Amino acid sequence: MPSLQGLCTAALLLLQCGSPVLADIPIQPDSIDSLRSAGMEIADPMMKFYEQNQTEGIPGKLTGTWYVAGAMMMTWIQYWQASGESKYNDEIQHDLMFQAGENYDYFSSNYSQWLGNDDQMFWGLAAITASETGFAEVSGKPTWTSLARAVFQMQVDRWDSQHCGGGITWQIWPYQAGYTMKNAISNGGLFELSARLARFTNNETYAEWANKIWDWSASTPLLNTKTWYIADSTSNENNCKDAGQLQWTYNYGTYLAGAAFMYNYTNGDQEWLRRVNGLLDSSIAKFYPAKFGGNVLSEVSCEGPMTCDRNQLGFKGYMSMWMAMTAILVPSTAEKITPLLKGNSEHLSKQCSGEAENLCGVRWYQDTWDGTQGLEVQMAALGGITGNMMLLKDVQIKTIETNPDADENHINTGDSQSPDKLPPIETGDRAGAWILTVLLILGIPGTVGWLIKTA
Ligand SMILES: *[C@@H]1O[C@H](CO)[C@@H](O)[C@H](O)[C@H]1NC(C)=O
Ligand SMILES: *[C@@H]1O[C@H](CO)[C@@H](O)[C@H](O)[C@H]1NC(C)=O
Ligand SMILES: *[C@@H]1O[C@H](CO)[C@@H](O)[C@H](O)[C@H]1NC(C)=O
Ligand SMILES: *[C@@H]1O[C@H](CO)[C@@H](O)[C@H](O)[C@H]1NC(C)=O
Repeated sequence: MPSLQGLCTAALLLLQCGSPVLADIPIQPDSIDSLRSAGMEIADPMMKFYEQNQTEGIPGKLTGTWYVAGAMMMTWIQYWQASGESKYNDEIQHDLMFQAGENYDYFSSNYSQWLGNDDQMFWGLAAITASETGFAEVSGKPTWTSLARAVFQMQVDRWDSQHCGGGITWQIWPYQAGYTMKNAISNGGLFELSARLARFTNNETYAEWANKIWDWSASTPLLNTKTWYIADSTSNENNCKDAGQLQWTYNYGTYLAGAAFMYNYTNGDQEWLRRVNGLLDSSIAKFYPAKFGGNVLSEVSCEGPMTCDRNQLGFKGYMSMWMAMTAILVPSTAEKITPLLKGNSEHLSKQCSGEAENLCGVRWYQDTWDGTQGLEVQMAALGGITGNMMLLKDVQIKTIETNPDADENHINTGDSQSPDKLPPIETGDRAGAWILTVLLILGIPGTVGWLIKTA
């Protein structure tokens, strides 16, 4: 069978063969214009996948997963700030608020029975990203910062001092497999959220929590502050001495970015600088393999055998944006990070060449499209391009002082609900969960199926 490319070339004499069929997206990593238009070529199919995969048309609820949409919105918002492209802003603004749910805490009773802390955390990060970028607030609704604070508050209320001296568990309810596991993304994610809230609001409470989560993590295999090795998980059963060893970019990314925010919040504390440098060097050594030239990010635990699941397909995008934040907040790291983010763009230029729409695959290091397609790989690629742009433009990571709209006393007068005024939802939800637990213990058939975690 002749290649499409060949056909296209042959047809060029007869027809206008204008669309870049099976061609690369041309990307110059030093040009904002080039990165912006590449970003749109990646975002258009991303949003198409997103729209097609909404469950029964519920805004922001994707079939088979809940948090992925939040992570996608976080990515779009960051891209919008760096590029100025606002094509999807209205839709994202609407859907990001919609999924905050009935209590404005990203814990809607539709989903709360089967969520993990990490699922809710991603929405919290999307909300603080909206605050830091100056994404438009929704009038008559809580500010983005309030939503991020509500997530923080619920999660620290789940702090488990009963086992291993602290930490939050992966899953939220006792009936979930994973309830006794403490993992890096849940704890690292909450650490990052706390650090970002500390810098954004300048409220010391968040910084105290960031310190506490860091210190606890460092007392377990989750965060080794000598080797800068981050284990994926540990468990209460073994008093948090055991370690799930798989290495993932986003685990490193949460602790790295959180440390960068703390460095900046403390106005240059040397201990935080040491931590940033330790984690950065370790991340680079692990996820920028020398065999691919040392300048392209790779999800090393699953890309080789092509076994990445839908979650893992998305990690590199977050990591790229968090590395960009690190370079902005800790200027001494910029020299090291800049070529790595440019390298990603150069490689994406070739990897994003699938089918007529220039779909992106998962192996950024590979010169030809690897055949993977879908929402998550588009998200990751958009995050990759965006990390490069953020640094090139030196985007402002705002605080309450540079984004006064985020102050809940300033906007939304009347209907305003600060987290302190939000209705107490814990009791109701816990009661519901208690009933479910009883049903489960009694073994009532039919209740089990839908309790199985799907995200
Ligand atoms: C929707 O999601 C399913 C799996 O969750 C996937 O198989 C399918 O390709 C997706 N469809 C689109 C259009 O993204
Ligand atoms: C919860 O589910 C109902 C029924 O499907 C739907 O109408 C509503 O929009 C959902 N809410 C959220 C926040 O997803
Ligand atoms: C700081 O944040 C904490 C946690 O959200 C809150 O309880 C406290 O009231 C805040 N302090 C100020 C001065 O806003
Ligand atoms: C904190 O971040 C800003 C960029 O937002 C940067 O200009 C400043 O130098 C950083 N502070 C320190 C102590 O490095």
